[in-house]
Amino acid sequence: MSLLQHPTDRAPLYPGLLPRRRFLATALALPAAPALAALLTPDEVLARDATFPDRPLDVPFVPTPMPVVDAMLDMARVTRNDLLYDLGSGDGRIVIRAAQRFGCRGVGVDLNPERVTEARAAARKAGSAIESLVRFEVGDVFTFDFSPATVVTMYLLPSVNLKLRPRILRELKPGTRIVSHDFDMGEWKPEDSRTVQNSQVFRWTVMANPPASLLR
Ligand SMILES: C[S@@+](CC[C@H](N)C(=O)[O-])C[C@H]1O[C@@H](n2cnc3c(N)ncnc32)[C@H](O)[C@@H]1O
Repeated sequence: MSLLQHPTDRAPLYPGLLPRRRFLATALALPAAPALAALLTPDEVLARDATFPDRPLDVPFVPTPMPVVDAMLDMARVTRNDLLYDLGSGDGRIVIRAAQRFGCRGVGVDLNPERVTEARAAARKAGSAIESLVRFEVGDVFTFDFSPATVVTMYLLPSVNLKLRPRILRELKPGTRIVSHDFDMGEWKPEDSRTVQNSQVFRWTVMANPPASLLR
């Protein structure tokens, strides 16, 4: 299923009015749910709710297939000297894979704390050498500082890409490579694009003096 067709794209995962229902739905889907439900008092359930985002996600979690992850890293020409940021990092696979293949450092940011917990656990599982190279933070791609990046990866949505475009061009160093799974950047034409399985991957390089039309 493509990201655009994902049901949660039409119905946000975390509607602000339903965090408690969302928490219960998640908890009840877990294998240990009956035990968990029996252990938590209503106050504890509410306290746990506070760890969920207080606004809807802009993009549902749909992981990039590993062959597409590898194609994204190849197209970005990642080396061990890079600092890769994955915007909306999900289970952390892109950042962790880059560290495993190239020995580069990486940062993942995701609005959903559950995803960040998963990504940190995956990094731990990958071993201490990998864990020491990567970092996962709860944050919002629209406010998180990604300016130190030399490579940025994204699997977001067209509208989100366009909203991020002015920040990408203003805040990132010239020469920073951007790769996006499936979605382009409108008027900013990619310098390379490839089809991998059923996915499209696009690449851009941040230029020194972007035209004003791309900065809005
Ligand atoms: C399509 S998934 C991509 C996951 C991962 N980058 C990959 O390619 O496998 C999009 C991710 O963006 C996160 N997300 C949605 N809105 C966000 C926002 N405003 N700031 C940060 N992360 C966000 C979601 O929680 C989800 O994990």
